[in-house]
Amino acid sequence: MIVAPSILSADFNNLGRDTRMVNNSAAGLIHIDVMDGVFVPNISFGFPVIKAVSKIAEKPLDVHLMIVDPQRYISQVRDCGAEIMNVHQEACTHLHRTVEAIKAAGMKAAVTLNPATPVETLRDIIAELHMVLLMSVDPGFGGQKFIPTTIGKIRRLRTLIAETGSSALIEIDGGITLENAPSVSAAGADIIVAGNTVFSAQNPAETIRRLSEA
Ligand code: DX5
Ligand code: ZN
Repeated sequence: MIVAPSILSADFNNLGRDTRMVNNSAAGLIHIDVMDGVFVPNISFGFPVIKAVSKIAEKPLDVHLMIVDPQRYISQVRDCGAEIMNVHQEACTHLHRTVEAIKAAGMKAAVTLNPATPVETLRDIIAELHMVLLMSVDPGFGGQKFIPTTIGKIRRLRTLIAETGSSALIEIDGGITLENAPSVSAAGADIIVAGNTVFSAQNPAETIRRLSEA
């Protein structure tokens, strides 16, 4: 299992220290949550903070944009050093155009679905995607409770990927714990995002290692 610690739950007074902890851990990615206060009822941080993390990060940046019309910021996300640009299906009127533009800018394209959005909506674009992110909480805040119906949704996404011949990876985000990570893994997830579970742990690097064994 690839683990993507979310720096939304890091100590922002010690963001450099927490980023280096991720560098020296078993994490495969660094997950970066951008919120605009419009698409979600919260505001997190923007490009200056992503650039600061990017300067010292040694793991690829997975930038999850919880913002309306994310296509407005493709070049800025690229200039921050993002490897993966993750946009919400619900926030893109012309999703195909946005995915093509992300790839043309040199990044890997990922699409995120809210808990109430069915996986079937991606059937005609999934072959173009590097990754699909299923939200397992309603986006906007760290530390929420995992929505159990996500498990069936992971299985349905696995089936859709097989049917379409896509090579998209499956990432799950929200409420991941040491207890539920094994069932998320068994359902077919490739990548788990973890915020609160990692950064509120006594030993964050050890927690990342244990999650990676799920
Ligand atoms: C939620 C964000 C998540 C969040 C996960 O809106 O997209 O990435 O940081 O945090 P936890 O793991 O605490 O639910
Ligand atoms: Zn996220």
